[in-house]
Amino acid sequence: MTRRYYVTTPIYYVNGAPHIGHAYTSVAADAIARFKRLAGFDVFFLTGTDEHGQKVEQAAEAKGMQPQAFADAVAADFRDMYDTMDISYDDFIRTTEPRHVQAAQALWKKLEENGHIYLGAYEGWYATRDECFYGEEELIDGPDGRKVAPTGAAVEWVKEPSYFFNLSKFGDRLLELYETRPGFIEPASRRNEVKSFVKQGLRDLSVSRTSFNWGIPVPGDPKHVMYVWVDALANYLSTVGYPDETAARWAFWPPNLHLVGKDILRFHAIYWPALLMAADLPLPERVFSHGWWTIEGQKMSKSLGNVVDPRDLVKTFGLDAIRFFLMREMPFGGDSDLSRRAIIMRMNVELANDLGNLAQRTLSQVARNCEGKLPAQGKQTDEDRELLATASLLPDIMHQQIDRQALTDALEEVWKLIRACNAYIDHQAPWKLKKTDPERMADVLRVLADALRIIATVLQPYMPGSMDRMLTQLGVEKGERDFAALDTPLPAGRALPKPEGVFPRYEEPEAS
Ligand code: MSP
Repeated sequence: MTRRYYVTTPIYYVNGAPHIGHAYTSVAADAIARFKRLAGFDVFFLTGTDEHGQKVEQAAEAKGMQPQAFADAVAADFRDMYDTMDISYDDFIRTTEPRHVQAAQALWKKLEENGHIYLGAYEGWYATRDECFYGEEELIDGPDGRKVAPTGAAVEWVKEPSYFFNLSKFGDRLLELYETRPGFIEPASRRNEVKSFVKQGLRDLSVSRTSFNWGIPVPGDPKHVMYVWVDALANYLSTVGYPDETAARWAFWPPNLHLVGKDILRFHAIYWPALLMAADLPLPERVFSHGWWTIEGQKMSKSLGNVVDPRDLVKTFGLDAIRFFLMREMPFGGDSDLSRRAIIMRMNVELANDLGNLAQRTLSQVARNCEGKLPAQGKQTDEDRELLATASLLPDIMHQQIDRQALTDALEEVWKLIRACNAYIDHQAPWKLKKTDPERMADVLRVLADALRIIATVLQPYMPGSMDRMLTQLGVEKGERDFAALDTPLPAGRALPKPEGVFPRYEEPEAS
C-alpha cells in the first residue's frame, strides 16, 4: 500500500508582496514534503493564495485596481518567489478559482444542512488587518489610548446582519480532541494556550459579511459573502476534490500536517476542527505552529521599512545558504532573529568549513590519488564501522524528527555526523597514508565517500540544488538518491567528475 502524506502551508493574503515570513513556512513545508518523498511516500504538498476579504479589497483600492486584477498580479509574484525558493508544491490553490468557490459553497451548504448555521445580527469588534472578530475582553489599550486587538491591529465596531456558525456547541468536543489526541496541536506550549481559550467558553462565530462584496457569495443569500476565514480554510478541502469523495485526490484526506504561524493557530486549532466536525469530516492529524522572525532585532513591519523579500537575500547569499539558514537558525517552533551577521556565520562555519571542506578534502584526494575513481569498500576497522553505522542510522532518526517537525534537531543530527567525519579524516590522515599504506588510504576515502553520500542524500530536502551537485560529484546517479537506494553500495571504480567546491566562503565586500 502506498503511504500518503498531505502537508499544507497557510494560503497567503495577496494584500502585499511576499516576505520572509511566507518563505519560511513554505521552505519548512517543502523540506518536509521532500523528505517524505525520499522516504517513499506519495506526497501532496499544497500551498496557495487567500484572495478574498476586506483587507485585499482595500489593498486593491489603494492601488486603484480591481480586486481580481490586483490578486492576479500578487499571486503571480508569490509564484515567482516560490520558484526562486525552489518550493516543490504539488498544487497552488487560489481562492478566486471556480474549483475553490464551489467547494467552499458546498461546505457551507453542508453546515447549513446539518443545522449549524443560522441568521442573526453581528455587533462587535472587527480587525480588518487580522480579518478577525474579537470579544471586548480581549482588547487592549493601544498607544493612543484607543482599544486595539491583542495583536495591536486597529478594531472597528461592526453592526450588520450576519450568518453564524454555532461554534459554542463545539467547546466540549474540541477539549476532548485536545485531550485524546495531544499531538493535534504542537508545540505543547501553544496547545495549552488554545485549551485555555476554549475553556473560557466559545461564542458563535459570525461567518458572513454584508458591508462589502469581495468574497464568495453565501449560497441562497448573495447579499452576504462568506467570512474570509471560512472561505480560506476550505482551501484544504477544495484541492482534494471536495465534495466529490470519489475524486482521485480525496484519498489524501485528511491532511497529515497543517503548518501555520503562531498568529493563525486559533483559526486552525479551533475554528477548523469545529467546522470539520460540523460537516462530518475526518480531522487533520496535526497542526504545528511555528514562531516569528525579527529582523536585525526588530519586529518586521511596513512602517519600519524593514520587510525582507527573500529574493533579495537569495541574490546576495545564494538560495541554499538561505534555505539552510532559515531551517537551522530558528529552533522550529520558537522565535528567532534574522541578521546579516548570523547568515554569514552559518554559511562560513557550517556550510563552507564543516561540510564544504569535508567534501572537498575527500573528493580532491580521490581525484588526485585514486585516479578519480571511487575506491572499493575495503577491510573495515572499528573506527570505520562506527562511523558508517552512525551514518546508516541517520535517515531513520531524521525521519522520526521530521514527523515531529523537529526540523532543526534533524539538521543538528546531520552536523554531528559531519563533525565526526571531520574528526575521522584528521585522525586517519589519508594524505599521509598515500606513501605508507595506499590500500588503507583508499579504504579510508571510500568510508568517507559513503558517509558523504548519506549526508548529501538526507540534506537534499533542505538544500536541493547544492546536494544535487554534491551527489553528482560523489558519483551518485539520479536514480540512486532516495533512502531506499542507500541499501545498495555504489560500484567500485565509478569515475567521479572533477571536484568543485559546493559551498564557497562568504567574504564581505570591501566597504567603499
Ligand atoms: N491568509 C491567512 C492564512 C489562511 S490559511 C487558511 C494569512 N495569511 S498571511 O499572508 O498573513 O500569512 C501569514 C503567514 O505568514 C502566517 O503563517 C504567519 O505566521 C507567517 N508570518 C508572517 N510574518 C512572519 C514572521 N515575521 N516570521 C515568521 N512567519 C511570519 O494569515
